[in-house]
Amino acid sequence: MNTGPIAIAIDGPSGAGKSSLARRCAAAFGFLYVDTGAIYRTVGLAAYRKGIDRKDSEAIEKMLPTIRIRLKYNDAGEQRMFLDGEDVSDEIRKPEISICASDVSALPVVRSYLMQMQRTLAEENNVIMDGRDIGTVVLPNADLKIFLTASAEARARRRMLELQEKGMPCVYEDVLKDIRYRDEQDSCRDAAPLRRADDAVLVDTTELNFDESFAALSQLIIERFCLQPFPEGETKEA
Ligand code: DC
Repeated sequence: MNTGPIAIAIDGPSGAGKSSLARRCAAAFGFLYVDTGAIYRTVGLAAYRKGIDRKDSEAIEKMLPTIRIRLKYNDAGEQRMFLDGEDVSDEIRKPEISICASDVSALPVVRSYLMQMQRTLAEENNVIMDGRDIGTVVLPNADLKIFLTASAEARARRRMLELQEKGMPCVYEDVLKDIRYRDEQDSCRDAAPLRRADDAVLVDTTELNFDESFAALSQLIIERFCLQPFPEGETKEA
């Protein structure tokens, strides 16, 4: 284990509950939560707005130095994403931007561009960072690695409810199709494909609800670091 800040890496496919569980764990144990998918989404949104072909590596490479991506935390401890000074945290959640994010994230030029931003956050803070390649590439020396997964159908059902709650109507079959598209692309790409690190603990949440999944992750954190969660109500969660 290293002597610097603590790093917990949570990787897994889209919709496995990484973001909500990582956010909750970060609040419960006093870590900074870093949602790396939001950073890729912001690059995807920039390409979408500029009408650039998201699979054209050269065009995307030219675009990168022309945009300004910033990650900030508001008073409630929520991560917000800024593109050229505009808060795009809500816009990057739209389904069409999910596909753009998956497309641009397959490009090595994008991955190396974003690498340092992610590593710097982990060098300066105790982090729970979620993504696809955190335990394998970004933070290979993370103190705890978790690979969080669930069946594609369970993930599609959860994602559909989430979108509906946000007032974004959607059809189950479309959500499942998007999940499968992203699974295939995120796992089969050459650059840092989604894969479980050899030393990652596998947590399958297909049969678990949110509280049960949170309890499973909390247990891993308690055991690994001898930490205790803040009592409920004393977390920094929004
Ligand atoms: O976690 P998410 O669904 O918000 O991620 C959006 C896309 O970004 C996803 O299709 C895969 C990609 N991504 C990645 O390649 N590496 C990461 N560390 C995080 C996300």
